[in-house]
Amino acid sequence: MPRVSTKPVDMDTIVSLCKRRGYVFPSSEIYGGLGSAWDYGPLGVELKRNIKNAWWQANIQERDDVVGLDSAIILNPQAWVASGHVQGFSDPLVDCKACHMRWRLDAIKDGKCPSCGGEVTEPRQFNLMFKTFAGPVEEAASVVYLRPETAQGIFLNFQNVLTTTRRKLPFGIAQIGKSFRNEITPGNFIFRTREFEQMEIEYFVKPGEDEKLFQDWLKARFNWYLNLGMRKENLRLRQHGKDELAHYARDCYDVEYLFPMGWSELEGIANRGDFDLKQHSKHSGKDLSYFDEEAKQHYFPYVIEPSAGADRSALAFLIDAYDEEEVKGEKRAILRLHPTLAPIKVAILPLSRNNEEMNKQAKNIYSMLRKSWMVQYDDAQSIGRRYRRQDEIGTPFAVTIDFQSLEDKMVTIRSRDSMAQIRVPIATLSDTLKNKLDGEAIEVLPVGGVMWKSEEKAGS
Ligand code: GAP
Repeated sequence: MPRVSTKPVDMDTIVSLCKRRGYVFPSSEIYGGLGSAWDYGPLGVELKRNIKNAWWQANIQERDDVVGLDSAIILNPQAWVASGHVQGFSDPLVDCKACHMRWRLDAIKDGKCPSCGGEVTEPRQFNLMFKTFAGPVEEAASVVYLRPETAQGIFLNFQNVLTTTRRKLPFGIAQIGKSFRNEITPGNFIFRTREFEQMEIEYFVKPGEDEKLFQDWLKARFNWYLNLGMRKENLRLRQHGKDELAHYARDCYDVEYLFPMGWSELEGIANRGDFDLKQHSKHSGKDLSYFDEEAKQHYFPYVIEPSAGADRSALAFLIDAYDEEEVKGEKRAILRLHPTLAPIKVAILPLSRNNEEMNKQAKNIYSMLRKSWMVQYDDAQSIGRRYRRQDEIGTPFAVTIDFQSLEDKMVTIRSRDSMAQIRVPIATLSDTLKNKLDGEAIEVLPVGGVMWKSEEKAGS
């Protein structure tokens, strides 16, 4: 079984791997960057897409009580008045009278500026919503906001979805999309940024059934991370104290992950009561209540809201998957990403780039496999270096085509986690890989790595 490093990885190691290998780049880098904005490179975009697809599969495809939605980012601004964001989505800020640095109030100790020790101003509320204008005239009547959460677009479509899908409670509406917050203290790489992607579900339930269904969602969402290989000891559920609860929330838990900067929120799961549908009914004048045919009564459903971040998940999965070990006196860095999340599933490695027949065979295999998965062809440098490169980007399997392959039409499959190698006929390669990637695994390792039935002998 592969050794699993117990040493926690620091953020700099992850940031540097992400830059070096094409997971995440600093945004607008040629112009000196833009504070806390990041771009997903060729591998990062695959990872994030795999996370979103896994979320969609678990929450929409494999459930019959949740449907999808893709609502607009810019909504009628009245929606943000009704939701409470225009009045209340703010952080208290102070300015230092000496050095003019601006701080969130919770960063201030003893009324002094943390940077120069100067006196600070009285706190003022700073709204976190990005404001802009729709159309050519910059006037109060054309002010609109970039959404700070995807949730409100779901509430606004509650009746549309209800009537078109003829759903009965309980049922949910889910969406994935960008949200924007003018965060005062962004940072910790892609943990807190001003532009980010959320994966949110608003699950509508009959009042009185909310507490049990809330517990079911807590379990389902916690297990989602575990099933994708996240280490249990790095995950916990933390209930919000009464003083922490948002004004609309009846109860709330955070799924927290042990990031390098400490336990921090990965996902929030709230019982929002009937606040949202009631507010939108009041402000729009449209009745958003639900008619319960069995009980023959109208009421406003309660809402259970599991709200996750795609970027924060990507960061947590990267940190959790990172491992180092020593192989033949050299450091081997590995991303033990679950095969479902790995950006590249299989690397195709011809042993020699100078043999025409070998290249032809490798290219044929490449063309065959890329119809099913993201596959990478690599014929540069020694085979050992190529294995290390694939280990570091988290590719679960490498297929090596060697001189023997030209004779016996067999190739070697090498596993990232155990480094074990097996030789299989090219004719059955695709099926063998499919079995391995789809879960022929006999043991899921604590970091998402997997051991396969057929692997006994470890190579390099
Ligand atoms: N609709 C409820 C809601 O938006 P939230 O706790 O403010 O709740 C939910 O956000 C999730 O969105 C967080 O758990 C986090 O994963 C992600 N998120 C929030 N703000 C973020 C930011 N500035 N950068 C990256 N992700 C963020």
